[in-house]
Amino acid sequence: MPYTFVLLIQQSNKIMNSYSLLQTSHSWWAALTIILLFVALTNSVFGMNSKRIFSVKDRKIALIAMTFAHLQLILGLVLYFVSPIGFSALGQMSSAILRLTSLEHPLVGIVAIILITIGWSKHKKADNDTRKFKQISIFYGAGLLLILSRIPWSLWF
Ligand code: HEM
Repeated sequence: MPYTFVLLIQQSNKIMNSYSLLQTSHSWWAALTIILLFVALTNSVFGMNSKRIFSVKDRKIALIAMTFAHLQLILGLVLYFVSPIGFSALGQMSSAILRLTSLEHPLVGIVAIILITIGWSKHKKADNDTRKFKQISIFYGAGLLLILSRIPWSLWF
């Protein structure tokens, strides 16, 4: 009996450790993702307004920002099923913070990352450089705004 108890404690410690590791990664990766999306957005807005050529560097900036957003999505999805305020809190809609972390933040985050991915694919199909910048500006801008509107700010840092 005490041995089973020790095993249970060890198991719950492991879950707690992976939870805090995921929480910390999702939290730091969020900062990097937001900065990179902002860089890609401002770069595209300036590129569009100056009507310059869409260079390999512009493509790389947009690609890196999208890749960071995709990794954030993966971290978020795993965290969602480990966190006590993710999927397991989904029924508690009367609490504003639990509604945010279990429903609004994940849902809006997924929609935002879909929009960013659509922007990336639309820029590839655009037939001139200004339009490439425009697609990235619109879709990355909308995605970033959605992400910022549903961050659980009170939990961050
Ligand atoms: C680019 C998109 C995203 C950004 C920038 C972002 C950012 C954040 C931030 C800053 C926090 C607070 C971190 C903390 O507690 O210190 C957070 C928490 C959380 N996020 Fe995200 N997130 C994104 C997408 C997602 C997605 C797609 C999901 C799930 C499908 C998700 C699930 C969660 C959960 C469950 C929490 C609460 C974690 C906890 O404290 O237990 N996130 N997110």
